[in-house]
Order: sequence, then structure tokens, then C-alpha cells
Amino acid sequence: MARILVADDNAGLRDVMVESLGGLGHEVRGVGSGDAARDALEEGGFDLLVTDLRMPGLDGLALLEHLKARGQQLLTIVMTAHGSVDTAVKAMHLGALDFVEKPFQLSTMEAKVKKALERLAIVEENRLLRAELAQGYGSMIGSSPPMRAVFELITKVSETSTPVLILGESGTGKELVAREIHRRSARKDGPFVAVNCAALAESLLESELFGHERGAFTGATQTKRGKFELAQGGTLFLDEVGEISLSTQVKLLRFLQEKELERVGGSKTIKVDVRVVCATNRDLRLQVEEGAFREDLFYRINVISITLPSLRERRDDVPLLVEALLARHQGTTGLEGSVGEEALALLQMYEWPGNVRELENVLERALVLANPGPDGHRRIGPNDLPAEIRGGEGDAASQREYHEATGLMAQIERIEREIIRKALEEAQHNQTKAAKALHLKRSSLQYKMKKYALGKDEGPG
Ligand SMILES: Nc1ncnc2c1ncn2[C@@H]1O[C@H](COP(=O)(O)OP(=O)(O)OP(=O)(O)O)[C@@H](O)[C@H]1O
Ligand SMILES: [Mg+2]
Repeated sequence: MARILVADDNAGLRDVMVESLGGLGHEVRGVGSGDAARDALEEGGFDLLVTDLRMPGLDGLALLEHLKARGQQLLTIVMTAHGSVDTAVKAMHLGALDFVEKPFQLSTMEAKVKKALERLAIVEENRLLRAELAQGYGSMIGSSPPMRAVFELITKVSETSTPVLILGESGTGKELVAREIHRRSARKDGPFVAVNCAALAESLLESELFGHERGAFTGATQTKRGKFELAQGGTLFLDEVGEISLSTQVKLLRFLQEKELERVGGSKTIKVDVRVVCATNRDLRLQVEEGAFREDLFYRINVISITLPSLRERRDDVPLLVEALLARHQGTTGLEGSVGEEALALLQMYEWPGNVRELENVLERALVLANPGPDGHRRIGPNDLPAEIRGGEGDAASQREYHEATGLMAQIERIEREIIRKALEEAQHNQTKAAKALHLKRSSLQYKMKKYALGKDEGPG
């Protein structure tokens, strides 16, 4: 049995599909718009999405784009109007697995659903097999000391219900940590609700979080429950929490102190049991100093903080991540490949300002660019990587020369880095000792440590 979400603004068709797929033993939920589908998917737990493309408001393509941007990709079958193959192709590019042209026979849809779910089972099986081999923690990949420290912290905080503040550069996995905390907590069967506080205007955010009563403002034609209420019994993830306006901060503080709230325009006090996890890539302390963030709220949400290392602070994890991300990608696109030695060395040397998200994008692109061998396997080489990672621009010939040189250089540097890392480890991070062992001046060692981002964090625990 699978959980399926059906999104179509045509109520008749929707009901028929809910019934027929439900008849196959699946748990099916129908929604009438792209916006409603997005909200439902945010709650999580669906295995398959069947969506119309043309819907008022957020249409099917925009929904797929949204899911893709959030890394929340899901097996998807799209329904297209007769003769609009172009849009179907666009949908496939956005990650849809299959499409059905309207009008269709129910049996056709049932067969497609069955096929998609079989695929899911294979992907899941692969995933489980790989999970045993891969090193990491749930959905999080990494085995470097700073990541292991993060995993340990997650384990600890999962046992409690205290607020957690997740810090780290963009793309380091803050949302992943929030989900992992929820998944490992006693609230795991409750909802996980994520709100991006930067995505909504101030007035909208308040009613999004706390809900509103009918008539609270123009356009509030119906009472609406907020995300806090929707997260009842589960976890509320407030992403980009630094963007919350001062007036909404007051309400948030009140909730954290009293565990209760009032909807906008309402006077009834509502009790909710929700764990709040926040994230930001801003410097909240600075915002407190500048008066943009309440100090008392800062301390309330920051009972425990987890700081994610940037990817350049854990380069040792790059090969592991590459393998896991390629496997994940294969699961969704069917493209199978690996990264060659030389390209891997380049990936390991790069600065990664966009962290794991950037690595994901680079690999996705490289996999498409790499030529498949006769067996379909795509071996990613330096030429499949973007210029900023290869390290040079210019005409094809000089580029090739450059690659040959950087290929060698990168390998030498990788080896040098590894030797220095080991020496530091053996010297228990005593730089004088390590420099002596390496026959280097201490200042040269420090220069190289900086170059290779071998800070204290890299040491064992
Ligand atoms: N340790 C990890 N293992 C596997 N995948 C990861 C890891 N960290 C991040 N990712 C992946 O990288 C992408 C970005 O992660 P996420 O959205 O959690 O980052 P973020 O810190 O919330 O970024 P932003 O500040 O930009 O919102 C996601 O697709 C996520 O699955
Ligand atoms: Mg995020």
C-alpha cells in the first residue's frame, strides 16, 4: 500500500481517481489546487503524486519546480491536456516520471501508478542496501569529525522537546537536520511542518503561522488554522527565522513561554503542543545588537544550537557525498555514473560556496554532460565540470593543457593535504611537532593548513 496525492481542479475526475486508486488498496488523498498539493506535500509522507498541469493558482509545473527547488522530489505522474506534449516534456525535465494524456481510461492510470510504485520499491531497496554501506546518519551523509559531532548532537536533542537553533551557510543541510531531529524524536508520527519565514510578507507570515479568524482582515473570508496548529503533536521548522518582524516575534516568544496562541483577529486562547526548530544563515547575535531581533526570543530559540560545517571544512566527506548523491540521482533519473580520479580531486579542492547543494547541482549537470559508455555508465571527467571548478577558461586546446596540468597538480595537492592531515593527527594538533615530522618550517605548515582548510575542526574530536 502506498500513499498517493491526487491534485486536480476538476472535482469529478479527482473523486473518480481517488476512488479507483483507493480501490487498489492505496491511501489516496485528493486536493483541488497546486497550492493545496504543496501544503499537503509539506506535511510529508507521500510516495506518489498524480497531478494535473493546468490548475488555477500554482499550476502543475510550478508545483514541480517548487518541489525540485526544495530537493523534495517525489515520484510524479502528470496529467496533460490532449496535444500538449510540450508541457509534458517540461514536466519530465522537472523530474516527473511519466505522463498521461487526458482524457484517459482509468485502467491506463492504474497501470501507470502500478509501474511507478514498482519503481519506488526498487529505489527503496537500493537505498536500503546503500544505506548499510554508506557512512552517515539517516539521510545525512558524512563521516568527518565535525559531522560526527553534529550527528551526536542530533541524537541528544531528539530525546527532548527543547527548541533548537540550526546554524550554517546556505546549502549545508540545515533543513535536513531539522527533519532528522523530528524523525528521531518521540513526535515522529506527528506532522513535520516547515515554514520559510523569508518567503512571505510580514502580515501574511503572522496569519500563516498563527492562523486567523474569519473577518480578521479584508479577504479573510474564512477562519484558517495556522502552521502552529497544523503542527500539533509534531515539529514546526521555522526556516530563515531572522526574517520575522518584531511584532510577530512577540507572538512567537509568547508561544515559546506559554505554549499557547491566539489566531489573528481572535481572542480565544489555543493550546498547542509543538516543538519549534529554527534555522538561519544570518548572524542573529548581530541582529540582536542592531535591534532587529529580540534578545529574549534569541535566548528562547537558542537553547541548543547546532552549527553545520561548510563543505570546505569537511573535504574528506566529498568522495562519500559524491557517491551517495550520484546514487540518489540515479534513483530519480535512471542516469548511472561515477566520478573519475582526476575530477574527484578537483571536486575535493574546490571551495564550495554553495556547499552540498552546489555539489548536488554540479553532479547533476556533469552526469548529463558526460558521455555514456556502451553499458550506459557515465564516467565524469574534468571536462564535465564547470569552469570555476576546473579552474580555467580559454580555448579548447589550452583548456585541455590546463586540465592535464591541474589534473596532476590537484592530485599532488590532494596527496600533500592527506600527508599533512595525518601528521597533524599524529602530533595531536601540535603544530611544532607536526612541522618537525614533515621537515617543514612552522610558518610553511600554517600556510599549507590554511590552503587546505586543515583547521582545528578537522582534528579527531
Ligand atoms: N550531509 C548531507 N548529506 C546528504 N545531502 C545533504 C547533506 N547536507 C545537505 N544535503 C543536501 O543539500 C541540499 C541542501 O540542503 P538543505 O536544504 O538542508 O540546506 P540549507 O542549509 O537549509 O540551505 P539554505 O540555507 O540555502 O536553505 C539538499 O538537497 C540536501 O538534501
Ligand atoms: Mg534551508
